[in-house]
Amino acid sequence: MNTDETLLVDRRRKVGLVTLNRPAVLNALSVRTLEDLDRVIAGLGASADVSAVVITGAGEKAFAAGADIQELAGLDAAAASAYSARGQAVLDRIDRLGKPVVAAINGYALGGGCELALACTLRVAADHAKLGFPEIGLGAIPGFGGTQRLPRLVGRGRALELVLTGRRVDAAEALAIGLVHKVVPRAALLDEAIGLAEQLAASAPLALGYAIEAIGCGADLSLADGCRLESALFGLAAATEDMHEGVRAFLDKRKPAFRGR
Ligand code: COA
Repeated sequence: MNTDETLLVDRRRKVGLVTLNRPAVLNALSVRTLEDLDRVIAGLGASADVSAVVITGAGEKAFAAGADIQELAGLDAAAASAYSARGQAVLDRIDRLGKPVVAAINGYALGGGCELALACTLRVAADHAKLGFPEIGLGAIPGFGGTQRLPRLVGRGRALELVLTGRRVDAAEALAIGLVHKVVPRAALLDEAIGLAEQLAASAPLALGYAIEAIGCGADLSLADGCRLESALFGLAAATEDMHEGVRAFLDKRKPAFRGR
């Protein structure tokens, strides 16, 4: 295990496990934490030994309770815009990693913490999790992509309600509105998230990446352009050894052995 101040990084077979590690401040995302996260995620993205990633928070209480409010004090307009753009870029790297990233939401996921979860490919929550966007109560707005990713995930009406009121939703409501895709007892959370990541890691990685790209980029396109992108990516998938193997294995009535080529 490689440990530093803000993050713990571990490997479970083909899954990289990243733990936000500032439990005394509910894993608030300091600039240093974001920069460390960027470096670690880039490394996991480039590693041939890692096929999926899980992100969680240290302690029982929080995934991440937002941007570090200490660091927000005294930012002028230019510095705040640059800060927001940098946070967006770090979360974008997660969104566009090309490998599945599972958020294991082990408590509060507020503000920037919820935006981090939104940038992940899939979200599993513990049953005590609370999600929301409290920025409005600080006289601010979400700045790490939340105003854009939230409506794409839960719809414009719900996104407006959550961002304008700052209301926190519990895990059951988060599941009902599609903010998370599964809720499990807190003791089962990490096993569930790692199990999901391992299941994804065992499938054809190139096809996974193409599917993530088709759905992720397609959301920003017209239906016609999105379908053109899908056809192009379908063609790339068809050119992989894995698709030949998958089709052959089905016809031979055996399990496919994907090799990521
Ligand atoms: N940035 C910096 N520090 C934070 C933080 C944040 N986003 N969220 C929590 N902390 C710190 C608290 O200041 C406190 O530090 P202290 O022990 O030195 O006083 C510590 O974490 C524990 O938090 P506390 O507020 O005492 O826990 P709680 O159980 O009473 O409340 C929350 C939990 C999540 C409801 C509350 O901490 C909170 O509202 N946090 C801010 C959430 C937010 O607005 N995020 C968006 C930021 S843009």
